[in-house]
Amino acid sequence: MRRTHGAATAKHGSDLDRALVDRAARLVAGLAGLRFDDSNRDVLAAGLARAGRGFAGGAAALVAAAADGDERARETLCGAITVGETYFFRHPEHFELIRRLAPKLAADGSVRAWSAGCSTGEETWSLAFALRDVVAAPSVIGTDLNVAALTTARRGRYGRWSLRGTGLPAELRVAAANVEVPAPLRSIVRFAPLNLTSADWSATLGEARFELVLCRNVLVYFVPDAARAVLRRLADRLVDGGVLVVSALDVELAPPELASVVVDGVTVLTRRRVDTTPPRAAARVATTPSPAPAAGASRHTVDSARAAADRGDLAAALAAAEALVAETRAPETLHLLALVVGELGRAADAIRFLREAVALDPTYVLGHLGLGLADTLDGDTRALHLDRALALVDGVPDERIIGGPDPLPASWVKKLASAARQGAR
Ligand SMILES: C[S@@+](CC[C@H](N)C(=O)[O-])C[C@H]1O[C@@H](n2cnc3c(N)ncnc32)[C@H](O)[C@@H]1O
Repeated sequence: MRRTHGAATAKHGSDLDRALVDRAARLVAGLAGLRFDDSNRDVLAAGLARAGRGFAGGAAALVAAAADGDERARETLCGAITVGETYFFRHPEHFELIRRLAPKLAADGSVRAWSAGCSTGEETWSLAFALRDVVAAPSVIGTDLNVAALTTARRGRYGRWSLRGTGLPAELRVAAANVEVPAPLRSIVRFAPLNLTSADWSATLGEARFELVLCRNVLVYFVPDAARAVLRRLADRLVDGGVLVVSALDVELAPPELASVVVDGVTVLTRRRVDTTPPRAAARVATTPSPAPAAGASRHTVDSARAAADRGDLAAALAAAEALVAETRAPETLHLLALVVGELGRAADAIRFLREAVALDPTYVLGHLGLGLADTLDGDTRALHLDRALALVDGVPDERIIGGPDPLPASWVKKLASAARQGAR
C-alpha cells in the first residue's frame, strides 16, 4: 500500500518553529526542486517533525546536517516530505493510450520506457503490464529520489489500497490481502535512485533514450522553474517521436521543443507529431480490460462509511472514515472524512481535510471541486479551486469517471464547476 512518505503517518500539523520550517522549505527547493508554500506547509511541517523524531538532535539538527551536505540527512529529509501517493493504473486513460501508441513507437518490437518519479513502483509495474500486452520486447525503468520507496517498488508486493484503481489485469484482481507482481514481469523492470534535479543523470540512465517517458504527479510539486528545467531534460531523453506523459497541469510548463498532442482526449508531449492512426499490427493491440471494481477491503470500508452516512448513522460513518484516514492518509480518504464531518456541521474541519487532500495531490479533481463549492470560503479562493478542477478535466471525455469517495462523470464535474464559477468572484 502506498500513500505518502512520512507525511502519511505524521499527525496533521506540528509544533515546529516557523523559521525552521521555512529554512527546510528553502533547502528542499534547492535539493529536489520541491515547492512548499502556504498551500502545503502542513505537509512539510508534519514530515519534518516525524523525520526529526528519528534523528539525533531532532528536526533542527536534521535540517542543519542536510544543509551541510550530509547525504543521509538529505535522504531522510527528502524521503519524509515528498508525497508518494500512487496506485496501479492511476489515470487509466494514460494506459489505454499507451497500449494504442506503443506498437507504433517500437521500431523493432522493443520499447524502452521510463517511469520518472515512480514512488513505490505501482506506476512502473502498470507500465510493464500495459507494454507486455502490445510489444514484443519492452523494458521499463522506474526511478525516484526516495530510496525507501524504491525498496518497496523492488519487492513488488502490494496491498489492496494500491489496487484501488480500475482496469487491473487479471493477475492483480485476486482476493488475497497482498498481491505479488508476476515473475515474468520482473525480468523487464528495474528500479534505480535518481533525483530529477541532479546535474547528471548518466550514473543511473547512462546515455539511454526512451520511446516512452512517464513523469506524472511529480512536477506538480515542483517550483515552476525547476519543473520547466526537468521537462527540457526529459525531452532530451526521448527518441524522435517518443512520447512524454505528464499531468494535465504540467503541460503548460513544457518548453517549445515539446509539442503537445491531444489523442483521445489525453494530452501528451512529443518532440514531433505522433501518428495517431491505428497501428498496422492492430491485432497485437490488446483490448482494454473491463474496469475492475475499485479496491477490495478498502473500497468496502469507504462504501460502509458512505452507507452509514446515507442511513443517518453519522457516528458510525465518522468512526469508519476516521479509521480509514488513520490507516491511509490519502486524498480520497481525507475527502470521505471531509464529507462526513461536513454533514455533522463541522464546516471548518471539512475544509481543513479537503485542503490537505489537494496538498497531498494537487491533481485531485474532486477535492478542488469540493473546495470550489464550499460556501464558507471566500469567492476568490472558490474560483481558484473551480478553475483548477476545470483545468484538470479539460479534454477529459465526458463519460470518464473521476475518482473519489463519490465518483462523478467528467461531464458533471464540468457542469458543476462551470455553474459555480459563474457565481464565484
Ligand atoms: C505523487 S508521487 C507520483 C508517483 C507516480 N508517478 C504516480 O503518478 O502515481 C511523486 C513522487 O515523486 C518523487 N519525487 C519528488 N521529487 C523528486 C525529485 N526531485 N526527483 C525524483 N523524484 C522525485 C517523490 O519521491 C514521489 O515518490
